[in-house]
Amino acid sequence: MSMGRFANSTDPRSGLEVVRDWNGVAQVVLRSPKGASARVSLHGGQVVSWRNDHGEELLFTSSKAIFKPPNAMRGGIQMCFPQSMQFGYSGTLERHGFARNRIWALDDEHPPINHNDNASKVSVDLILKPSEDDLKCWPHCFEFRLRVSLSKVGDLSLISRIRNVNGKPFSFSFAYHTYLSVSDISEVRIEGLETLDYLDNLSHKERFTEQGDAITFESEVDRVYVSSPNVVAVLDHEKKQSFVIKKEGLPDVVVWNPWEKKSKTMVDFGDEEYKQMLCVDAAAVERAITLKPGEEWTGKLELSAVSSTNCSDHLDHPVSI
Ligand code: BG6
Repeated sequence: MSMGRFANSTDPRSGLEVVRDWNGVAQVVLRSPKGASARVSLHGGQVVSWRNDHGEELLFTSSKAIFKPPNAMRGGIQMCFPQSMQFGYSGTLERHGFARNRIWALDDEHPPINHNDNASKVSVDLILKPSEDDLKCWPHCFEFRLRVSLSKVGDLSLISRIRNVNGKPFSFSFAYHTYLSVSDISEVRIEGLETLDYLDNLSHKERFTEQGDAITFESEVDRVYVSSPNVVAVLDHEKKQSFVIKKEGLPDVVVWNPWEKKSKTMVDFGDEEYKQMLCVDAAAVERAITLKPGEEWTGKLELSAVSSTNCSDHLDHPVSI
């Protein structure tokens, strides 16, 4: 990572700024003309903040989060690769895979950091390649390219491209582990997952079928909804705001809230914070993705925060990234 490149990028007109966190790790700040922003850390390629035009934070970060590499901080959007959840792989790999714990680099294939697809977005491109140590525990040569973009209207999009650079075929699972900030978990419901099958992490991954009209919360939930539609909405009744989650290449949705008892066992999470968060992850976990040498996989996520009255307008449109 060259400092010169960072210095050149702090041009306020570009909509991009590079700052350093207290560990000296670079964070790229994307800004929309109307005042929305997103912040992406080179630690983990993690999106650590996403704010709307009014400066309100839309992602949850725990007040007890530990901001110290190598572990990912509790909150934002974490890149879970090459294994996500307890599904797919076991053994010595780090929980949720190592990608979220590594230091990423700016992607040299996209020369200007303030790459602008078109005038409607500001984007940053990051890349992760395995280190010698990574290859010892997961012996596969990959390139993981991540583009994070903020649109003019403040929508956040993430595009992941994972390539098998050479060698043997490999398989992986993946998730955008997304901590949404909510007013009060008891006021929240998810639409789009009803009638689907899910694997329940709290019952040894047993398969059940969702029965309710919409998903609401009154106890711990840790589920993988399989083969889900590409648009899911999280409605926050109290805030009168909805998150519209659009995805592509990611068949599953992981829904997680630790609730009271589990919260107390997590050192980097406040005892009562389960009320203000909900993880809804676009993911590929039930069936591993396999790449032959030279093949590439793409997984897209687009998040919008809209007023609940306008939510249905957003549900009909496919992912636009
Ligand atoms: C969820 C998993 O996605 O992440 C849960 O389904 C897990 O089982 C949670 O507890 C948090 O994981 P971690 O490793 O970030 O503490």
